Amino acid sequence: MPKRFYITTPIYYVNSVPHVGTTLTTVICDIIARYRKMRGDEVKFLTGTDENGLKIMEAAEKQGLAPQALVDKISQQFVEIFGAMNVAYDDFIRTTEPRHIRAAQEFFRVLKEKGHIYLGTYEGWYDVSTETFFKEADLVDGKSPDGNDVTWVSEENYFFRLSAFEQPLLDYIENTPGFLQPETRKNEVVSFIKQGLRDMCITRSNPGWGIPVPGDNSRVIYVWFDALINYIAGTGWPDAGYENIWPADVHYMAKEIFTRFHATLWPAMLMGMELPLPKTVIAHGWFNFGDTKMSKSKGNVIAPLELAAEIVEKSGCAHPQSVDAVRWSLATLLPYEGDTNFTREEVDKRYNVDLANDLGNALNRTLSMAHKFVGGVVPDVAPEPEAIEAIRQVKIAFEQAMQDFRIHQAADSALSVVRFLNKYIDTRAPWNLAKNNDPALPAVLRSMLQCLRATEALIRPIMPWTADALAEQLNHLPLAGWDGLDQTNTLLAGTKLGEPKPLFPRMEPPKPAPKPEKPAQPAKPKAPEPPAEIAIDDFMKIKLRVGRVLEAEPIQGSDKLLKLQVMIGEEKRQIVAGIKANYTPVDLIGRQVIVLANLKPVTLRGVESQGMLLAATDENGGAILLQPDREAPEGTGVK
Ligand code: MSP
Repeated sequence: MPKRFYITTPIYYVNSVPHVGTTLTTVICDIIARYRKMRGDEVKFLTGTDENGLKIMEAAEKQGLAPQALVDKISQQFVEIFGAMNVAYDDFIRTTEPRHIRAAQEFFRVLKEKGHIYLGTYEGWYDVSTETFFKEADLVDGKSPDGNDVTWVSEENYFFRLSAFEQPLLDYIENTPGFLQPETRKNEVVSFIKQGLRDMCITRSNPGWGIPVPGDNSRVIYVWFDALINYIAGTGWPDAGYENIWPADVHYMAKEIFTRFHATLWPAMLMGMELPLPKTVIAHGWFNFGDTKMSKSKGNVIAPLELAAEIVEKSGCAHPQSVDAVRWSLATLLPYEGDTNFTREEVDKRYNVDLANDLGNALNRTLSMAHKFVGGVVPDVAPEPEAIEAIRQVKIAFEQAMQDFRIHQAADSALSVVRFLNKYIDTRAPWNLAKNNDPALPAVLRSMLQCLRATEALIRPIMPWTADALAEQLNHLPLAGWDGLDQTNTLLAGTKLGEPKPLFPRMEPPKPAPKPEKPAQPAKPKAPEPPAEIAIDDFMKIKLRVGRVLEAEPIQGSDKLLKLQVMIGEEKRQIVAGIKANYTPVDLIGRQVIVLANLKPVTLRGVESQGMLLAATDENGGAILLQPDREAPEGTGVK
């Protein structure tokens, strides 16, 4: 049986419900797990909750609950929120489960038997909020280095001989490239170890909550010591068969629990057990909110599902797309090396720029043009080599980024197919090919559709529901597996394509508060009649240009207006036109128009209009657009 690709998130404290910060690592690991599954790997993706420790006891006391009742309640909320975020974990471990308790006690027993655990007296400071021991010399103004309150502990306890692993750890890190990532954090670990490792107190006197030390009910195992063991408990250890899963391929977490715990203590514990070490331990930075880390204790958290609901409210997109938009933000804003300020403005920007504009336009233009120019079916021709090469390059870049666990870069690569497609449409100009009966037209349309098919696969690990929606609009089953991504046989010639439906309607800026009612105004004076004669100089003030409509979409909430992107020479203009009653977006894409190009911009329904289209007025007041009698280069002056 091939060994499974095994990926883990930290297990989360159940003293508070998940927020965008705690959801980040789990969604990032979900993206990696989904990608590996698409590649055909057997994957085990483990997440879960950390339920022992004083922190939890205190939280339960504060809420007037028994610890078990609190952990059951909050752990269930993690399950529900991760489910709602479409996280497809394979296993969810709780440290109050028998399989974990058994593994933790056995681990302790074997380490003790091997001489790595001894009884001694502990005197020092304890920070309940991070469940960490500190020496007097570590304190800053009487608090932990993170600024938390500490309490004095003086007890007879068990110690883990961490000091004995100083050199073996340094040797292992040096000889195992890629073990600790990214490189900058690896260097921090090396200096931390080089400062000297002290033996670690790994038990506390039993407060009535926690995993008892085997054979000694008066003490419980220190919560960090038990928590780390979850990773191997999740494989079934100590029962046979765990070797099909262990060692983990990736432990992913944020930086605050990397150096001391995941990159030092845990590998030392495994060395003591003579068990193989995880292949990669990797830490990302923090999502900050303002200047501080987003965390429940700071009261500055954003709940992922509330964020999704806000997106629905602001854009009108469907619920699955709003969840995908949150996942997209988590992926693109991943603080890989530094920290990121996670704000609603940034989320809205990613939504509008990446999803509504880049992805939305590519989808809308491709399907609209396929309907307009090739009968709404997949053309029975090969795509152009240029497009296939672009897809191939993106696939390579995406794979490399995933290999390096740089999920933000993978997301960017996924979108680069869409950016290629939008540019390809502009340069290959299918409307010109159609007008000139150019035989290249079907291959160009096929290339455009092929780019969408590749996009479906590339975004799937990040936005699975949107990938399904894209496949549905292409009227194909979801692309099976990863390898088909750059193949040309993944679209069935002759298949009737779906109608383009915007998946991510643009978020419009918030409407200004309604103005207080004004007293009745006198009727507006009618626009003055133009003078009977004007001088040619007056006419020359008007800049008229030939333009080409590249994109067209309705404006939400308006039954008159369409929003157009119009090319005038090298320049792209956004124009809002009151022509919805007479033209559909599909009628307009590719059409030449005459633009009044030096009109002062105005904002209509919150959308800026940078020009006006010339049109005659029909008997019902509708628009009849003016168009050059024959094709003229875009940007050509009109007089
Ligand atoms: N229970 C321990 C972990 C034990 S693992 C054997 C713990 N739990 S925690 O609930 O505090 O979760 C910490 C983890 O949540 C971080 O390492 C990170 O994965 C995630 N994050 C929590 N807040 C975050 C941010 N504001 N930014 C980035 N990651 C965030 O520590």
